[in-house]
Amino acid sequence: REDVALGGRIAAMRAGGLALALRGDPVARLMHKPWRHDPYPTYATVRAPRGVVRSRTGISAVATHDLCERILRDRRFGVRLADGRQPFAPEEGQSLLEPVDLSLLGLDAPDHTRLRRLAQPTFAPRRLEQYRDVAETVTADLLDRAAARGRFDLVRDLAAPLPITVIARLLAIPEVDADRFAAWGRALGSSLDGVRSVAHAHELARTTSEARSLFESLVSRRRVEPGEDVVSQLVGALDAGDMTIDELVSLAQLLLVAGFETTTNLVGNAVRALQATPGQWEALVADPGLAAGAVEETLRYDPPVQLTARIAHEDVEIDGMPLRRDSGVLVLLAAAGRDPEAHPDPDRFDLTREQTTPHLAFSGGAHYCLGAALARLEGTVALRMLAERMPGLRAAGRAVPKTATILRGPRRFPVAA
Ligand code: HEM
Repeated sequence: REDVALGGRIAAMRAGGLALALRGDPVARLMHKPWRHDPYPTYATVRAPRGVVRSRTGISAVATHDLCERILRDRRFGVRLADGRQPFAPEEGQSLLEPVDLSLLGLDAPDHTRLRRLAQPTFAPRRLEQYRDVAETVTADLLDRAAARGRFDLVRDLAAPLPITVIARLLAIPEVDADRFAAWGRALGSSLDGVRSVAHAHELARTTSEARSLFESLVSRRRVEPGEDVVSQLVGALDAGDMTIDELVSLAQLLLVAGFETTTNLVGNAVRALQATPGQWEALVADPGLAAGAVEETLRYDPPVQLTARIAHEDVEIDGMPLRRDSGVLVLLAAAGRDPEAHPDPDRFDLTREQTTPHLAFSGGAHYCLGAALARLEGTVALRMLAERMPGLRAAGRAVPKTATILRGPRRFPVAA
């Protein structure tokens, strides 16, 4: 029950019946632990009918590129219930625990449109150039330290600290708070995959309130000493009455959550695929300019965010399958990346592949990832510099995967320079 009270859209769907998964029901199997080590065969079974697949537990899913894209762009779907309420929120008084507020990710128009417009300048091309300098300096420093050790953990020593440092800079988090900020990012990021237990729920509640104090003190500071950062820019909107302090704080929190583990997984999944596929790492070393291609191929082949969900705002019919108002649909972004009708020979990782159909790793429609350009930039810098500085890089043990449903990437990945 606590799951229902606290989890995001997906955790609640799981609690809604998927945990009782029936054998032979591929949609239900998506929520089972063992498949998570290699979810792609399960995705293939959901994709095979090439339509909306309904689980016996009542949950629907789409897995072809075409259907995923159509649902994401269809204005009859949103992320809240048709009347604007949070999906799966507990009845009043049922739970003292509140869900983590994921700002834009949990809003429909018109609030979503208003807040997204205010957040957009953070990712303007001029800003991105500043973040490139940060990403290059941080990566160089991290790789120097890793090289001195010889063997290191790709996740702990490169893929995790890179994005957290970039986000700290984007939000102008003071140096003294950097370690706490990273710990909060890890704790809050876990909420994207739902809430596992009451203890987890309490941890999230504590972290949210600590992060909130930091962001509130940042707002006060930026009022007096404005800078080039996101918070300074949003203080103007706050003073003009275009947003509330709660909206500002949860937007700042979303940037921390959305930009951290996702980018960590991108770098981890990329290096793993490059190392596991014969000739691919060598190709990158021979031409580090292929790093951007390796990032795109990773996003298609093994994306950091595997799935999302949408809710029908009215009774709709998709290719003959009726979906009732307020019913949810899982949109399997990772399955779309392996759809042979969109990507020929989809199970082959090829960093020189030209994607004529763009992958859906950053979603689509109104919620298309705001940080996509930044994520690409960080991923490209990390892979290029890794290939340039550590051409002999090799796996030095088994990559240990996370066992999450939505976010996919290694938890640990021992490598040798
Ligand atoms: C939304 C993926 C990195 C900020 C999303 C969504 C996906 C996604 C799939 C939409 C979810 C949905 O449709 O329900 C990724 C991946 C990343 C990445 C795979 C890394 C490889 C980043 C970074 C930032 C960021 C670095 C910023 C620092 C956001 C924000 C949203 C979002 C603010 C909400 C947009 C909205 O709801 O309108 N991301 N993301 N992301 N992402 Fe990213």
